[in-house]
Amino acid sequence: MAINRKIQTLDEFTIQQMRNFPQATGELSGLLRDMGLAAKRVHVEVNKAGLVDILGDAGTMNVQGEEVKKLDVFANNQFMGVLQHGISCAGIGSEELDDIVVFDDEVSNQSKYVCLFDPLDGSSNIDVNVSIGTIFSVFRRVSELGKPATKADFLQAGNKQVAAGYVIYGSSTMLVYATRRGVNGFTLDQSIGEFTLSHPDIQCPDTGKIYSVNHGNFFQYEEKVKEYINACQRKNKDNGGPYTQRYIGSMVADVHRNLIKGGIFMYPGTTDKPKGKLRLLYECNPFAFIVEKAGGKATNGKQRILDIEPTEIHQRTPMFIGSKLMMEELESFTQQATK
Ligand code: AHG
Repeated sequence: MAINRKIQTLDEFTIQQMRNFPQATGELSGLLRDMGLAAKRVHVEVNKAGLVDILGDAGTMNVQGEEVKKLDVFANNQFMGVLQHGISCAGIGSEELDDIVVFDDEVSNQSKYVCLFDPLDGSSNIDVNVSIGTIFSVFRRVSELGKPATKADFLQAGNKQVAAGYVIYGSSTMLVYATRRGVNGFTLDQSIGEFTLSHPDIQCPDTGKIYSVNHGNFFQYEEKVKEYINACQRKNKDNGGPYTQRYIGSMVADVHRNLIKGGIFMYPGTTDKPKGKLRLLYECNPFAFIVEKAGGKATNGKQRILDIEPTEIHQRTPMFIGSKLMMEELESFTQQATK
């Protein structure tokens, strides 16, 4: 068997990137490697999810006599733990926690970055063996180095992100991250326990045939959004329609598929929840950064996601994200003057 491809692990890749930038301090590379380490630990637990009857349900004792934590709490503790004990992160914000956590020790106060994450997105899908994920976003601090991080470090517009990524725990486990230099994907090779570069320089196809939206909410969407969804279902020789509807209900899986194959994902506001469901800082900003770096677009229907100035850490926003031409088609509906 001819093997002519050099395997490059996540660690080797981040170190290689650093070598190309001799002025880099290695802090961001270290942070990304920390995220990879936590992701491997979460991968192991996610894969045990179906064994819950054997190993014990959340809140009970497992066979070692340890309390079994809910997976999203476990994931939160893993990501927070690696960052707190690493040397690159001054504090975190998590979808699981009410407020930011500032690490406030000598090393952390010197760290340049803060990280926001959703430790286990789509967690309602765990029980039914559907793909779930982790999403993260990294900002350079705006507060003074040497002092504890402040809320202002976390409340920055998405266009200030220095890196963002996600992990998908699916038929294989993948970590995808973006920096200003592009988007790269790593698949967990379980035989060596390492994320290895499998999807270098990911580019989102300019167009596709998939639209992803919760159709159950259709009658609660704005008229222009409904018109666009109706158009997705019509025959259209210019855009290759009708499109195919695919919606997993796990944003990481839905956006990952559309990033690779081309497509559009939408979580619009509804009459009940005008701001939709998704969180700007933990879900929308990181995906907007990744998809834009891969050549796609992301808006809230009126404004680029990355230009929204956040005012609170758990704020929500409508979200439309995907292939460039499909997003422009959507905008031809949403940006029409109201009749
Ligand atoms: P949760 O983590 O509570 O399962 O939420 C998942 C998020 C996101 O991943 C997904 O796209 C969306 O919620 C699905 O929401 P609907 O069920 O309302 O469509």
